[in-house]
Amino acid sequence: MTALLEVKDLQVRVDDREILHGLTMTVNGGEVHAIMGPNGSGKSTLSHVIAGKPGYEVTGGEILFKGEDLLEMEPDERAAKGVFLAFQYPVEIPGVTTMNFLRTAVNAQRKARGEDEYLVPDFLRKVREVAASLNIPMDMLKRGVNVGFSGGEKKRNEVLQMALFQPSLCILDEMDSGLDIDALRVAADGVNALRSPDRAMVVITHYQRLLNYIVPDVVHVMSQGRVVKSGGKELALELEATGYAQYEEVAA
Ligand SMILES: Nc1ncnc2c1ncn2[C@@H]1O[C@H](COP(=O)(O)OP(=O)(O)OP(=O)(O)O)[C@@H](O)[C@H]1O
Ligand SMILES: [Mg+2]
Repeated sequence: MTALLEVKDLQVRVDDREILHGLTMTVNGGEVHAIMGPNGSGKSTLSHVIAGKPGYEVTGGEILFKGEDLLEMEPDERAAKGVFLAFQYPVEIPGVTTMNFLRTAVNAQRKARGEDEYLVPDFLRKVREVAASLNIPMDMLKRGVNVGFSGGEKKRNEVLQMALFQPSLCILDEMDSGLDIDALRVAADGVNALRSPDRAMVVITHYQRLLNYIVPDVVHVMSQGRVVKSGGKELALELEATGYAQYEEVAA
């Protein structure tokens, strides 16, 4: 079996400073992986490099997605192949309604895969159904993408995108930050509904609490640009008790 995502000895620089120093991890279809680690350890950087956000220089290592060289692909090509990143800080796009953005993005991905584009009524029905399950009022979707959305609304909007795009690799960067207790449960239910044998999730979080809702198969600890420890879901509980000090020494 080919792994869904293989990150091998990845080295990444931003502005001549090395941020990832040989990061390795493998995610198979059907698995949920959690990445934890102190502020500044490189978690968002890893997610950005996988999604293809510009501004990062890969100086070593490789990333394979379904056995293909991901780093050779443009960001839109990666999205069409099934890579999705829910951003830690979702961006506002004034002047583009959320609804239009969603439909354009879904159709562009379908087209790139040689699938039929959604007709407007079919798409509306689909969005209505998914938005309702995430407690997102349809009125919100008439507003510019994320414009004036509260922190929690932005996060729910990311989960809405994910549910519509049906990606095979979902990376969720601090999805739980800014969500109230009820919204956290709703968003986590939305994520769990997408769990399937041919899809994998990488959940970046600081809080073990999220992992009570989205139970991971594997937990990785990142420190100073590397994965320094991997284990089962009990590792998250252990971290809650011990903190990161012991891992900072390992990485140094
Ligand atoms: N564009 C940039 N220019 C300079 N330094 C950067 C840039 N992007 C990231 N870094 C640095 O890289 C390191 C890793 O940042 P990253 O955002 O990946 O951390 P993180 O693990 O996601 O942290 P957090 O838990 O706070 O979200 C930090 O020290 C950060 O300052
Ligand atoms: Mg981050």
